[in-house]
Amino acid sequence: MTKMIYPGQTIGIIGGGQLGRMMAVAAREAGFKIAVLEPTMDSPCGQVADIRIVAAYDDEAALEELAEVSDVITYEFENIDYDGLKRLTQMAYVPQGAELVRITQNRITEKQMIVEAGCPVAPYIVASTYGQLEESIRKIGFPCIVKTARGGYDGKGQQLLKSADELSLTKELFEHSQCIAEGFVPFAKEISVIVQRNGYGETYCLPVGENIHVNHILHETIVPARIEEKTAALAEEAAMKIADCLQLVGTLAVEMFVLEDGSIVINECAPRPHNSGHYSIEGCNISQFTQHIRAVCGWPLRKPKLWASSIMVNVLGQHVVSLTNSIPKYPDWSVHLYGKTEAKVNRKMGHITIMTDDLSAALQQIEDSCIWSE
Ligand SMILES: Nc1ncnc2c1ncn2[C@@H]1O[C@H](COP(=O)(O)OP(=O)(O)O)[C@@H](O)[C@H]1O
Ligand SMILES: [Mg+2]
Repeated sequence: MTKMIYPGQTIGIIGGGQLGRMMAVAAREAGFKIAVLEPTMDSPCGQVADIRIVAAYDDEAALEELAEVSDVITYEFENIDYDGLKRLTQMAYVPQGAELVRITQNRITEKQMIVEAGCPVAPYIVASTYGQLEESIRKIGFPCIVKTARGGYDGKGQQLLKSADELSLTKELFEHSQCIAEGFVPFAKEISVIVQRNGYGETYCLPVGENIHVNHILHETIVPARIEEKTAALAEEAAMKIADCLQLVGTLAVEMFVLEDGSIVINECAPRPHNSGHYSIEGCNISQFTQHIRAVCGWPLRKPKLWASSIMVNVLGQHVVSLTNSIPKYPDWSVHLYGKTEAKVNRKMGHITIMTDDLSAALQQIEDSCIWSE
């Protein structure tokens, strides 16, 4: 049953990272209060929350406390304990439900769901043990990528295999969980679609983003993606089908590969706002965070519109100083920093968004500023 949540009421967020922070900032604009469950005291979301519950994500007492203080509960990451979330759905209002997390936190159930939704995926096999992988890898061939079913991010928990000789490199992955092996997709581009849906079935996609990864970490998102119109239509259609299949409430980010011929292959999904959607804060008439809050609060959704071509660049720990030095030079950069104190190498500390009709000039600024050097 879909409920409307009103300003003045409290939104509980599981997870205190930057996605929670940007959700909270969006919600606060409309006058909501924020409670956050997060094991660390000084978290990006905790810094802007009204109520902080400092405990592990699966701590029973903490989840009960969150349920007590919140009128609605959402989450900012998918690796939360499914059983804990399931129990929470019985004692609190969690419009996104627990199924969405169960399906998307495991690559095996996720791929099955994508196929069920009628969307293309790379050929893949499931292996519970290294022995099983050895037996069935020939069905996929080489090159291929072996990925842990659970817990991977930013390329962690995966191994590219160029030939059978390298198979033993994957042994470690099985210490973590079951794995899948999937054919290497010779993609021309990577794109993502963020699809958002409320409990009444209203569904909208944000404009398709083109994602450029460096060392497996998202470096920049260019919007609109430099793809043909028919590819963009295919991408949106696929995201809508998946949202429908999941009976989505909230946000789903769908990562895809674009092949040379303009066709698409679905890579993976995340049931939350996504790094590749940050451009929407300035670039669109509705940000992914505001739309997410509207969706979980039972508000009508707004049809997204892109104000201007945008480019979003992540700022990692090693680039914070370069960013700070760039602030006086580039008034057109929208600067976002997440309030993390320790600027560790490769840690996502913030991002910038540039709205521009002159993409090459913006890319030149990014290069000159050294906010991305290896
Ligand atoms: N089957 C594949 N073929 C080619 N490249 C892949 C494939 N799977 C993953 N990659 C590359 O690795 C990156 C990270 O993989 P992904 O499955 O998205 O895991 P993560 O959870 O780390 O984001 C992708 O963005 C893509 O660049
Ligand atoms: Mg990914």
